[in-house]
Amino acid sequence: MQDSKYTFIDLFSGCGGLSLGFEMAGYKSLLAIDNWQDALDTYKHNNPDARTLCGDLSKINPEDIKREYNIDRVSVIIGGPPCQGFSIAGKRIIDDERNKLYKSFVSFVRCFMPDAFVMENVPNILSIGDGVVKESIIKDFSDLGYNVNYKILLASDYGVPQNRRRAVFVGLRNGEYSFPTPTTTTPITTKEALSDLPDNSVADGEAYPLPAQSVYQQMMRKGVETLHNHQATIHTEQTTRIISMVPDGGNYKDLPKELQQTRNVHIAWSRLNSKKPSITIDTGHRHHFHYTYNRVPTVRESARIQSFPDSFVFTHSKTSQYKQVGNAVPPLMAKAIAEQLLPNHK
Ligand SMILES: C[S@@+](CC[C@H](N)C(=O)[O-])C[C@H]1O[C@@H](n2cnc3c(N)ncnc32)[C@H](O)[C@@H]1O
Repeated sequence: MQDSKYTFIDLFSGCGGLSLGFEMAGYKSLLAIDNWQDALDTYKHNNPDARTLCGDLSKINPEDIKREYNIDRVSVIIGGPPCQGFSIAGKRIIDDERNKLYKSFVSFVRCFMPDAFVMENVPNILSIGDGVVKESIIKDFSDLGYNVNYKILLASDYGVPQNRRRAVFVGLRNGEYSFPTPTTTTPITTKEALSDLPDNSVADGEAYPLPAQSVYQQMMRKGVETLHNHQATIHTEQTTRIISMVPDGGNYKDLPKELQQTRNVHIAWSRLNSKKPSITIDTGHRHHFHYTYNRVPTVRESARIQSFPDSFVFTHSKTSQYKQVGNAVPPLMAKAIAEQLLPNHK
């Protein structure tokens, strides 16, 4: 890839879903920081030139990063600080333990003063404390000189086969950001995303057993000849028997009364719907099953649902891989956000 004009630092980068979208749009990663080495190993595996730092962001001083990594200028700071329940006093997000990660994001923006920042989070961040958290976020960054806009984006509007919603705040030093309009009117279905992947496991690095069956699958396979991360979970006989009773797109309500309570969560025993985008995938709780196979989606299938291309390989244990995938911002949604940002740089 040619040297990009625009750069980013990714805070709380995880394995790099948000980063990947920015790279697809033409940005270059200067540094990714997270405190989870597994996720950073995956980041590095897929982006060998990138620099990663494993550390607790609540304890990292951005001035040290500036000096140690010799970063003078960065175009955009991106990331999703996990919120452990914001604490507010009056109309301010105060400096206390629970707000440390959010405050760390603010301090990086204050230190580097990039052209823009992109901060994503769970949708209900907009309603916490009757909107006080949202207003306080806007004020924190406005005080630094940014024009802040926010919106809840739906991943399936941007070619991701999943109805995942994320709240996204974008701040610009110059101008106003307008969020990307949907890139697709017909959402990609789970069948379009997955139908070329077999029921059984495929050893890492083996050839695809079937040809691509949809435009989405062709796009996911671009430049790739072999499959990775497609190891099927073998469930107990009882789990297999119960899930086999649930139809495509169904859930526990399709089971006989005596089996409905076998898992104590309302999303239990749900099958993906082959004719719709997927419900939000989780980090491996094993409640969502394939639309036709009697098993949970493999890591590769979950990655397809998140719009990670097949060239993106997940490292470490299967449990860790599910968590890395489930935590991520869908790259195609991130790409739409990033492309819309490109004209806003000086
Ligand atoms: C929602 S995930 C980020 C996903 C990422 N944006 C992506 O698109 O792949 C949140 C990340 O924050 C990291 N994290 C949590 N607490 C942290 C801390 N104190 N310091 C650094 N990273 C932290 C977690 O390890 C996790 O990878």
